[in-house]
Amino acid sequence: MQDAGTRIGIIGDGVVGGALRAWFESQGADVHAYDPPKGLRDRAAIDEANVVFVCVPTPYDAVRGFDHSYLLDAMGSITGCKLVVVKSTVLPGTTDELQRRYPQHRLMFNPEFLREASAVDDMAHPDRQIAGVTVQSARDAEALLALLPPAPFVRVCSARQAEMAKYVANSFLAIKVSFANEVSDLCERLGIDYAATRDIVAADHRIGASHFDALADGYRGYGGKCLPKDSKALLGLAERAGVQMDVLAAADAVNARMIAALPHIDAPRKPRIEHEIEIETPDVLIERQRAA
Ligand SMILES: NC(=O)c1ccc[n+]([C@@H]2O[C@H](COP(=O)([O-])OP(=O)(O)OC[C@H]3O[C@@H](n4cnc5c(N)ncnc54)[C@H](O)[C@@H]3O)[C@@H](O)[C@H]2O)c1
Repeated sequence: MQDAGTRIGIIGDGVVGGALRAWFESQGADVHAYDPPKGLRDRAAIDEANVVFVCVPTPYDAVRGFDHSYLLDAMGSITGCKLVVVKSTVLPGTTDELQRRYPQHRLMFNPEFLREASAVDDMAHPDRQIAGVTVQSARDAEALLALLPPAPFVRVCSARQAEMAKYVANSFLAIKVSFANEVSDLCERLGIDYAATRDIVAADHRIGASHFDALADGYRGYGGKCLPKDSKALLGLAERAGVQMDVLAAADAVNARMIAALPHIDAPRKPRIEHEIEIETPDVLIERQRAA
């Protein structure tokens, strides 16, 4: 648990930032959120914080790429020398690059795995708590973990490792949804009850029931803010690295087919700018690995 001197700031009071604020408030923490579009304009509270969580959007577009502009706006506004914890989903290498650009802060990456529909409860009861560190923040891992909700699985690792794990988790769930949709079509064609089939298969604890619905709330495929953009971002990264990811690419194509047949709930967020400011880190890393 936090010690008395810990003042927490949250930049971005959306699904993730709002759920994080709710967790800290439930713990009686000294926490303040900053989000001008939401009327939260107390800049001084962020300036006075010693730990700042960054929970701003990180849109991805398959054509235009990753939009870091919200992230860089947020980072550029943090004064002093603070522990800055990125909770926004970012490509592997991004936190290291932010550490390089903002050497006065200690940067960490703490992936968030909550579901939008049950954000506050998921935030408070996570399956895992991951502290992704840079060289400069390695000593802060225990302090960060003491602040956050406890979890049965805890891991301290490099920021890049944690960033990768977040993308792999969301991409795996995307693959599961696309597979469920195709199996559902086959069941329908054969006159077999898909829901009953799913229940039998999902009773295997290795498989599980989540993301196995072919029709959720009247919609097919996967939508929402995260699975489409995160699976496309991982595909884009793999392509630049020269690695084939046929299974994920097929899941993405199946999803496009499913949502074309029936509209999905949320259109993915469009990037705000086109490569105005770009963190090239993943590409730089790939080049470095190729050269080695
Ligand atoms: N929604 C989810 O289920 C979920 C789950 C895990 C991870 N994530 C990741 O977390 C990040 C945030 O997602 P979200 O769903 O909470 O987004 P959101 O759109 O709900 O909230 C983001 C908030 O940030 C604010 N904001 C943007 N720029 C700002 C700035 N410079 N200063 C202050 N506030 C600013 C916006 O006004 C908005 O309220 C994304 O990277 C997303 O991929 C989301």
